[in-house]
Amino acid sequence: MLVCICNRISDKDIRSAIHEGASGIGDVCADLGLGSCCGKCVPFAKNLVDETVSQLQISNNFHLARELKA
Ligand code: FES
Repeated sequence: MLVCICNRISDKDIRSAIHEGASGIGDVCADLGLGSCCGKCVPFAKNLVDETVSQLQISNNFHLARELKA
């Protein structure tokens, strides 16, 4: 799904940026150019970024806990 129509940035592009180290909407905007034209995509993208960062943190904590148990 396209999130930023102006720059043709998809939800997959945003999730990939987070998995590659972006930690917030500012990083995603800087890395991908998201929001650099009309800016209408930024509120939706911010929710997607926050949700993806939270999911990644939960996943990382789960894997860390499994490693500590082993
Ligand atoms: S839709 Fe993202 S800058 Fe216009």
